[in-house]
Amino acid sequence: MDTVFIDRDEELNRLASVKPPAIVLVKGPRGIGKTALLKEFCRRLSQEGKKHVYVDCLKVLRPRQLVEEAIDWVASWELRLPERPEVLRRAYRARRPDEALETFFRFCYDIGVDVAILDEFTTLIRRFSRRRPYASADEVASHMRSLMESFPCLWILCSTSMEDVYQLCESARKPFARAIDIAFEVLPLAFRDIEKLVRSVNPRLDDESVKIVSLASCGNPFYAKAFAYSCLPGEEPKASVKRTLEAGAIGQYFEALFASLSPPEADVASHIAMGYRRYRDLELEDILDLPQALRGLMRKGLVGKTVLSRKHIIYWLKDNAFASWLAMRGIPGKGSWPFEKVWEQYLGFQGHFARFLRSLSKPKEIQGVRLGPYKDVRVKREAVHAAGESRDLFYCSYEPKKPQRDPNLERLSERKFVVFYHQPTKDLRTALEKEGYRVLVLEARRFS
Ligand SMILES: Nc1ncnc2c1ncn2[C@@H]1O[C@H](COP(=O)(O)OP(=O)(O)OP(=O)(O)O)[C@@H](O)[C@H]1O
Ligand SMILES: [Mg+2]
Repeated sequence: MDTVFIDRDEELNRLASVKPPAIVLVKGPRGIGKTALLKEFCRRLSQEGKKHVYVDCLKVLRPRQLVEEAIDWVASWELRLPERPEVLRRAYRARRPDEALETFFRFCYDIGVDVAILDEFTTLIRRFSRRRPYASADEVASHMRSLMESFPCLWILCSTSMEDVYQLCESARKPFARAIDIAFEVLPLAFRDIEKLVRSVNPRLDDESVKIVSLASCGNPFYAKAFAYSCLPGEEPKASVKRTLEAGAIGQYFEALFASLSPPEADVASHIAMGYRRYRDLELEDILDLPQALRGLMRKGLVGKTVLSRKHIIYWLKDNAFASWLAMRGIPGKGSWPFEKVWEQYLGFQGHFARFLRSLSKPKEIQGVRLGPYKDVRVKREAVHAAGESRDLFYCSYEPKKPQRDPNLERLSERKFVVFYHQPTKDLRTALEKEGYRVLVLEARRFS
């Protein structure tokens, strides 16, 4: 790997604390760092002398490749293999997909693995389901499940496709519905960790560029690396972010993601990105199959829903970078957003914070401040001078859902409220607090 591995201690400890036999599901959007996390976990297992297998199922195009990948992986760390890899490949040959699954499990059993990881397992299930003797993805998943249960070790299943995870694991009466012991979603990295990553990818960047690129990444390491790589010397950091979003690696990924949506889903996603957040606003736009499109987007993990009251339901795009891309692309006949507006709404710090406030459906405590659900959030940026320092501050005013009777809830609309991206100096903090500001330092991680 070309960069250093950053943070993720929480997730690694969580994986390490699972007592086998167990089946763990790891999910999360594209590029959030699932594979990097699992590979780091494998590295730690090697250090502890634990036997493990990791298979990237995207590489399994033919049934026999499942066990071949596993043999290659084990050969990379186990020096005392019973046979050479070529001999093992012959011994564990399989042609049909059902044989491939059985052979793979037999190999894991023969080696005596403690941990077996199937990265992008839903892709394997989809691919195998198209081959005889299987007739559906459910059949492959049922077979896999019974094999996993008959060979007790720590199974880790990982997938990017939220929709497939929903269909195979989460929806009731599905093969994995009750088989998963622990499921967790890999969250965005905190701002300071993303900054470390950005600096390691492109050490020439100045502090301001590192900050801009880190904000634009929304905590996603794949986005952070793409933005950091594409920063040209002397170029405004925001200009390179715009370029990468429009035409770079990220733009291409969003293009493919957009093309994978059904026409009503694509239409709804574009509308949400451009501020049509309430169900009623969307209804007025005459979108075909609106409820179905919203359900589809939520299953794909692209849209979140906040119910403030029966009449007041808000939808929001979970990925601010994708929302930015959609708003810049626009809707035919309704125009598009300029990059500055996109930055204010989604990519800049105020955008992240506003999204966080909008996503609250129940009160949440952060650094001793209880924040409540809000009907509307308006964030404004202004310069504040205190303790001889002049800084850009984000001042949020909003309309609470109902008049707040709970005295513990912060009434942000009544208080001057300041959100920092970085810890302010002690003097600045004291000066602000003296003037009645409430100071909060937020991390990208909290916004998910
Ligand atoms: N904790 C981390 N420290 C450093 N780099 C990271 C970290 N997590 C992810 N990356 C880098 O970010 C990129 C995307 O990560 P990775 O491939 O692990 O994501 P993923 O969730 O598996 O994505 P996909 O859905 O495409 O499989 C990779 O280049 C990886 O090296
Ligand atoms: Mg991956």
